[in-house]
Amino acid sequence: MAKQFHITTFGCQMNEHDSERMKGMLESLGYAETGERGDADLILFNTCSIREKADERFIAHLHDAKIIKRGRPGTVIGVGGCWAQSMKDLVFEQFPFVDVAFGPGQVPKLAEFLTTDSISAQGFFEFEGFPAHLPTKRERPHQAWLQISVGCHMKCSYCIVPSTRGRHVSRPFDELVAEAERLVGEGVVEITLLGQNVNAYGRDLRPEPRNFAELLRVVGEIPGIKRVRYTSPHPQDMKRDVIDVHAELDTVCQHIHLPLQAGSSRILKAMRRTYDRERFLDRVAMIREGVPDVAFSTDIIVGFPGETEEDFQQTLEVCEAVQFDSAFTFIFSARRGTEAADITEGLVPHEVKVERMQRLVEVIQRNAHERAQRFVGRTMEVLIEGPSRTDPSRLRGRTTHNKAVNFEGFGEPGTFTTVEIVSATSQTLMGEQSLVDLALR
Ligand code: 5AD
Ligand code: SF4
Repeated sequence: MAKQFHITTFGCQMNEHDSERMKGMLESLGYAETGERGDADLILFNTCSIREKADERFIAHLHDAKIIKRGRPGTVIGVGGCWAQSMKDLVFEQFPFVDVAFGPGQVPKLAEFLTTDSISAQGFFEFEGFPAHLPTKRERPHQAWLQISVGCHMKCSYCIVPSTRGRHVSRPFDELVAEAERLVGEGVVEITLLGQNVNAYGRDLRPEPRNFAELLRVVGEIPGIKRVRYTSPHPQDMKRDVIDVHAELDTVCQHIHLPLQAGSSRILKAMRRTYDRERFLDRVAMIREGVPDVAFSTDIIVGFPGETEEDFQQTLEVCEAVQFDSAFTFIFSARRGTEAADITEGLVPHEVKVERMQRLVEVIQRNAHERAQRFVGRTMEVLIEGPSRTDPSRLRGRTTHNKAVNFEGFGEPGTFTTVEIVSATSQTLMGEQSLVDLALR
């Protein structure tokens, strides 16, 4: 019987994409995926280190793997991704039952390791170029990620990513376009361009520098592509050229993830975000002018060292002013090796962080709920993803705004339909498949 692997993925979309590549690569080596960790010959973890909570969750899983290995000594345990990179060789000291550890840029090294004779503890932590040639096993056949760059050249003082994913390197323009064309040829209708800071794309390319707007336009114009998304941009670099592409191409989705992080200019400065509150609000206004119906999502951190009640109030004010359609909210967590981890003054007590978080979430949810009402009564195009998670007799899909829609109707995953929206909560739209669409079937 083929050897079996099990993989658990933590963290961001970049990690999910890396896991798809690990799966594709393992299957090409003759491994088969199993849904049960206990049955696996190879137990893999693709880890995240963005916040302490991510570390803690992962360690519990790692202990579970250790117990499995105790019962089946031949089991190979592999740990990849950002946590592994941030720990490097300490992984083997602290967790001697781990056989292989590798950073986010070293997915191909996993294959090398598995195909050598001596499977003894080894670590791979040097970036060696893009693993673009790896086969990928896509979670959904009609949706694909396209990694446009690795690493990050920013120096946000709270963030561990520049140290785990290294310096910013763009993938060649023509190579990306060719890959996007190939994906569309395979039946992909939605592509998400992935990078730690997508608008920094192309500046480092030689001899001919490129830019993100060009890439977005060319990918959005590929015949047969229906939707293009991207994540994440940096507000500093979100310029009119990108918004023009949004406005001109129907394929470029009307959703922008614009990470605010904080609403106080003082805190933004301490975070080294390179924009202040006014600049952020100006960007939002510029984007809304070009793409009036755009949906904004964001990331916000509460309790950054030195954040006073007044600073926090300013975060709430910016949220009220922008009215985000959704937001990911985080409690500040000191990460090893980051600048903010060394700040000793003005640390915000945990209870205060928790209390601010609750207040922030209330504002976010109220705004998201209000914003979502603009969709009620509209007929919207929805890309069907499959059955609804809460009620399998209904379908679930997504609008261009990245809003989840639950509706009664028919249709295969990966196809489009039109849905009349009848109600909306902060998270989900509810609707009915439109009669015109039904008649066409
Ligand atoms: N503490 C809390 N949140 C963080 N993020 C990144 N680093 C930290 C940290 N040290 C958040 C940011 C980022 C998102 C992916 O995670 O909001 O945009
Ligand atoms: Fe993704 Fe950042 Fe987590 Fe790495 S640390 S997996 S880049 S969220």
